[in-house]
Amino acid sequence: MRSLSQFLASDVSSASLQEVLLVTTQTCIEISSALKKGSLAGILGMAGNENVQGEEQKKLDVISNNMLKSALLASPTVRAIASEEEDDIVPASTDGEYLIAFDPLDGSSNIDINSMVGTIFSIYHQVGSEPATEADFLQPGKNQVAAGYVLYGPSTMLVFSTGHGVHMFTLDVEQGEFILTRENVKVDTETQEFAINMSNQRFWSEAMQNYVNDLVAGKDGSRGKNFNMRWVAAMVGDVHRILCRGGIFIYPWDSKDPNKAGKLRLMYEANPMGMLLEQAGGKAFTHTDRILDIQPDGIHQRVAVVLGAANEVDKCLSY
Ligand code: F6P
Ligand code: MN
Repeated sequence: MRSLSQFLASDVSSASLQEVLLVTTQTCIEISSALKKGSLAGILGMAGNENVQGEEQKKLDVISNNMLKSALLASPTVRAIASEEEDDIVPASTDGEYLIAFDPLDGSSNIDINSMVGTIFSIYHQVGSEPATEADFLQPGKNQVAAGYVLYGPSTMLVFSTGHGVHMFTLDVEQGEFILTRENVKVDTETQEFAINMSNQRFWSEAMQNYVNDLVAGKDGSRGKNFNMRWVAAMVGDVHRILCRGGIFIYPWDSKDPNKAGKLRLMYEANPMGMLLEQAGGKAFTHTDRILDIQPDGIHQRVAVVLGAANEVDKCLSY
């Protein structure tokens, strides 16, 4: 059984990328232990602030953000960070070669019910000169040198790609180390399972309503097969299920939003998950474009997301 450090040493040639992945994942192990203590550590509940997206911050959003922020900014490999919980990018004092965008605690409303949450990260090469600016981060997702997430579920799992397949690691709590448990994960091209927040149905485009109606019609409808539905309400949990057993995950734009952007954020949700899905043989699109091709116009930009089994993503877009 290979540990994460052994895997990185043999499979990731750049020492500085190894370092930035180790710092990120080591901090996630600390976040995992904080989450395990839950109410006992007095860290549940609201922080009393709103983030730049106008969402109320939980204490654990703030704690996880601060942990990742200080660990990454202290690493000589990091030039700057961007986070869901920071209005602006935060430059490091070093001339490190990586930019890291992250969602410190995805699905944080699940904390209150002791359900799945996770940390999502996306790593780019620094492109501009010093000091780093927001413009340096605005690279399409296909430029990511690594992307992944840590899922805090019944076990804590790390899933990432550096562009050579998707690999899953499970935290050995006693050793405080991630151990490789699945190499080269692949997602089937076909599926009979979908994930979408049905409560928004009346706000979707007519095409999206037709597509989902046909899924729900099952054997009796035009698709001629039954579909199951699952919704974790944390993207990280829904994407993990798709990597483990297939499916399609959709967060469409809806008529509440005049810009036709969805709820999810391009730079630290859609792009990293898009890279993982593509590396696993699946697809990741908005309602029109390949997510990894989008030229971002801001670090907190939102996009519609359709990702998962390749043929099912094609089918959805064909509507
Ligand atoms: O980060 C946003 C997020 O929490 C995702 O993890 C999740 O997929 C989505 O929002 C759930 O939103 P809702 O259930 O409110 O539609
Ligand atoms: Mn999130």
